Amino acid sequence: MITDLQIQELCKAAIDIRENCYAPYSHFCVGAALLTASGKIYTGVNVENAAYGPSNCAERTAVFKAVSEGERTFTAIAIAGGPEDGKLDYCPPCGVCRQVLAEFCAADFEIILPSSSGETKRFTLAELLPESFGPDNL
Ligand code: THU
Repeated sequence: MITDLQIQELCKAAIDIRENCYAPYSHFCVGAALLTASGKIYTGVNVENAAYGPSNCAERTAVFKAVSEGERTFTAIAIAGGPEDGKLDYCPPCGVCRQVLAEFCAADFEIILPSSSGETKRFTLAELLPESFGPDNL
């Protein structure tokens, strides 16, 4: 069970790393902070590309960083997004990121969305990707 302090830390890490986003095309900056079962945090940002298609979302950057370091078990992710010079708005993960999360995360994995209003929305992966296709289907 994730604590309030962990949620605060995760949101702060997502908001802070957002500064490193590379979004010269959309000017929409996203930071993500992924919590492992052992308590470690991996961050990521969106990295866009002039050819558009190869762009990567912040959530996938964080997952791929963590997985490439040997991590396999995750508890929660905080996602902070919004226009580069504007306020943070709720930034729910795109469909591709939901599917990537489903590869590694259980149904009760938490997705935490801070916003500039100070209110934070929380969902489980099962809520955002019901009836998903995953490793267990093969
Ligand atoms: N983006 C993310 O990084 N995560 C999301 O959850 C939604 C969208 C990025 C992709 C693109 O670089 C920019 O935000 C606008 O879609």
